[in-house]
Amino acid sequence: MKTLRCLLLAFLAIHGSFAVDRNNFKTCAQSGFCKRLREQKPEKSQYALDLTSVMVQGNTLFANVETIDRESEKRTVLHKYVLKLSAIQDGTFRVEMDEAEPLYPRYVPQLALKDTPVPDKLNLVSKDDNRVIATNSQGHKVVITADPLKVEFYDKSGDVALVMNENSQLIIEPLRKKREAVDDESGNVVEVDEEGTWGENFKSHHDSKPRGNEAISMDFSFPDAEQAYGIPEHTDKVNLATTTSGEPYRLFNLDVFEFELDSRMALYAGIPVLYAHGTKRTVGVFWHNAAETWVDVVNYADSNVVSSLVNLVTGGQKQRVDARFMSESGVLDVFVLLGDKPKDVFRQYTALTGVAPLPPKFSLAYHQSRWNYVDEADVASVNEGFDTHDIPADSIWLDIEYTNTKKYFTWDLEKFPHPSEMVSNLTAKGRKLIVIIDPHIKREAGYFLHEEATERGYYVKNKDGKDYDGWCWPGSSSYLDFLNPLVSQYLSEQYRYDKFVGTSKDVHIWNDMNEPSVFNGPEITMPKDNRHYKESESGSEGPAAYWEHRHIHNEYGLYYIRATHQGMLDRDNGKYRPFVLTRAGFAGSQRYAAIWTGDNMAEWGFLSASVSMCLSMAIAGMSFCGSDVGGFFKYPESELMTRWYQAGAYQSFFRAHSHIETKRREPWLYDADTLALIRDANRRRYALLDFWYTLFFEHSRDGLPVMRPLFQEYPDETAVFTIDNEYLLGDKLLVRPVLEQGVSSVKVYLPGSRTRTLWYDVDTYQAHQANGYINQETPMSKIPVYQRGGTVLPRKERVRRASALMAADPYTLVVALDANNTASGTLYIDDGETYEYRNNKYIYAKLEYSPEIMSYTFINENASYATRSWVERIVIAGIKAPPKTAKLTQGDKQTSLLMTLHKGNDVLVIRKPGASMAKPWKINFSY
Ligand code: NOJ
Repeated sequence: MKTLRCLLLAFLAIHGSFAVDRNNFKTCAQSGFCKRLREQKPEKSQYALDLTSVMVQGNTLFANVETIDRESEKRTVLHKYVLKLSAIQDGTFRVEMDEAEPLYPRYVPQLALKDTPVPDKLNLVSKDDNRVIATNSQGHKVVITADPLKVEFYDKSGDVALVMNENSQLIIEPLRKKREAVDDESGNVVEVDEEGTWGENFKSHHDSKPRGNEAISMDFSFPDAEQAYGIPEHTDKVNLATTTSGEPYRLFNLDVFEFELDSRMALYAGIPVLYAHGTKRTVGVFWHNAAETWVDVVNYADSNVVSSLVNLVTGGQKQRVDARFMSESGVLDVFVLLGDKPKDVFRQYTALTGVAPLPPKFSLAYHQSRWNYVDEADVASVNEGFDTHDIPADSIWLDIEYTNTKKYFTWDLEKFPHPSEMVSNLTAKGRKLIVIIDPHIKREAGYFLHEEATERGYYVKNKDGKDYDGWCWPGSSSYLDFLNPLVSQYLSEQYRYDKFVGTSKDVHIWNDMNEPSVFNGPEITMPKDNRHYKESESGSEGPAAYWEHRHIHNEYGLYYIRATHQGMLDRDNGKYRPFVLTRAGFAGSQRYAAIWTGDNMAEWGFLSASVSMCLSMAIAGMSFCGSDVGGFFKYPESELMTRWYQAGAYQSFFRAHSHIETKRREPWLYDADTLALIRDANRRRYALLDFWYTLFFEHSRDGLPVMRPLFQEYPDETAVFTIDNEYLLGDKLLVRPVLEQGVSSVKVYLPGSRTRTLWYDVDTYQAHQANGYINQETPMSKIPVYQRGGTVLPRKERVRRASALMAADPYTLVVALDANNTASGTLYIDDGETYEYRNNKYIYAKLEYSPEIMSYTFINENASYATRSWVERIVIAGIKAPPKTAKLTQGDKQTSLLMTLHKGNDVLVIRKPGASMAKPWKINFSY
């Protein structure tokens, strides 16, 4: 199969036509439930709440809901449900609904939530003959209309922020048994053939659907919203498009070979959180469901939304977004994030699903990967190459070919006979090794993993209860069933040093193909009627005794990385921070791994997509995101390669990677000019590494995106709502990478005109007053990056071959003044790899500048990290009246400092202040 793929690739490389094979993937019309639900457009909801049943217990309101046959004259109840509304801390509500007595339990994701959500107080305010009103402790109001059922959420100023079931698209298909009837001819009782309910076909695959139809759906209306965002992973713009005349957005983790741009097709990750934003407020919904999901979006401001519909629904109001989630199975479980600003909803989302933990510092530096570095000599020469050419790099990666014939946790001992020595050669230079481990297990007699997993019954089962046998890199393969806690633990144990020989604390892990990818499966993944472990009450049988893959699909990859992460923690008894990279993603994946955007192409459009895709990921909790620098398929010529390095140097996860069939492309294989430009891009990353590290530390506390869309910081500035070719790092740097071929300038939008924001070009310190777009010249050496006036950035200018070697190096502090001549910033320092920071062995410091004084003080009061770093330079940009003297005080030592004025007298450089960063200090200025 692999050879087949390679041949195909070689063919395509020659003939140049790369394109996704859409036939392999379902459209909504080919996906039974999506078609079924999308066709249902009831005028009035069938669902009605029984007001007499309303009851509040703790932070939850419970009520019975019924579906009513609206056609019949009598009030005929068709089915019964239970609705729960819970108040959650920090402006969040949860709405759950399930059948009152489901035939089988329905699956609720097990890992997406970090913990049980923290309750808020729920007050039942009133109940009349058709409405119940409840509030939380923050003054948000929820109004439930009983018949037809509708739930309205009000913001703190009393306006409607979100309506559920406004468009009557709430559906929970009841679970049931097959219908039976007496056959006219034979007189026997037979099963009625209900088309599609008990089985579906796609291409040559049959899905047996043992529980029949069990789909769910709900619509959400966001009054006043101008744009919607989120629900990654897709390749179209950050702001979501109206889907009425095309395909909905699809969330179903898939290995899409040669995925296409500007598409709403499913990709490797599926994170079901959507935000609606306008100048009035930002609101989010987190659809807590791991099954295949489609999302329809209607933005009433889009010109293609039929105006009669706009008039009908909104009375002509143009600012509104509607979204409808449709899932194949599961319970209805929605978290409503009431904002009311972007920062609030992003925080509310990560409060539920977790943040990316502080990563080991090296992982924020540059990574060199390729499928494959073929043997130890190759690894040694690439390692050497970075030194010879003076390019910093922190890791070298090994793809699947390092294993003994794709048997993970083994080595190809002919090509890699001395793994430990190879690792030592890297660590001697401060570098790490990262190796791939995939979830498919080769079904080969004698392979310990396969034998143990078979013997212990650890594999996912097929629909008949036998070990599922699929096809992946190793050929015939089975897949560990991580839903069984023993299996997750088993996988974790494989990372122990005594088991995975040759590894050490400096070997980190790349988990790929975890959608999971199955080359011969439906849509290149596992059949939905495969069976997973379920902790069941004894005696459960039939469909109640297991979960189907359909129920858990989008969560499979998360189970896998969680086990990996745990294994890496355990191998050192929790001493070192693991680094894991994943391709599949779901809500909560950020707690265990960084993510990259998979198999992109060396084309300009994919460079552009790297920005928008990572922005969408970041607002869905996955801040640690990047793309294969240079593009995975095809070969990037110099210009594209240069621009990609320049862009990558300012994205969270910065790794070059390429396909096995492509021409080698280590930076020194390019011409001297390109090499110099790549070196420069990498050095910029290293100079700012402490800034990146501080951003990730802050993310681990506040849950806010590291790479942020402009609307997060400028929520009232309508012009930024659709910008996704530039972004902010924290609230300090604005990056507008060059994403276009052959351009000599780009337009850069500088936000914040209302607050008289200044943006300083980081190369020249030239200040621009924010006022919409500027034209920026972009010779090949230019990366348009601007520091916001009012900020202080830490830099390390003595770039070495790996970040670990720069730990004790001195800082240059760049102070960019705002209109009031002030600035502030933060800096985080620790050992870069252990959990000692949890014992207060770190420094989290504030840097503040005013014309009279600059200070470095500790935010964590008992800071006890003995850094040897010091300040070698302070650059103050935008200074209007330079001081005459500067006096440094640290402890009881005072020093007069030398200053020079540059660049039209607006940049002041304080030379060699020499202050240690291990202790607070201040500089007093006199005029
Ligand atoms: C697919 C991944 O997306 C790619 O990065 C990797 O090189 C191949 N699998 C081989 O492991």
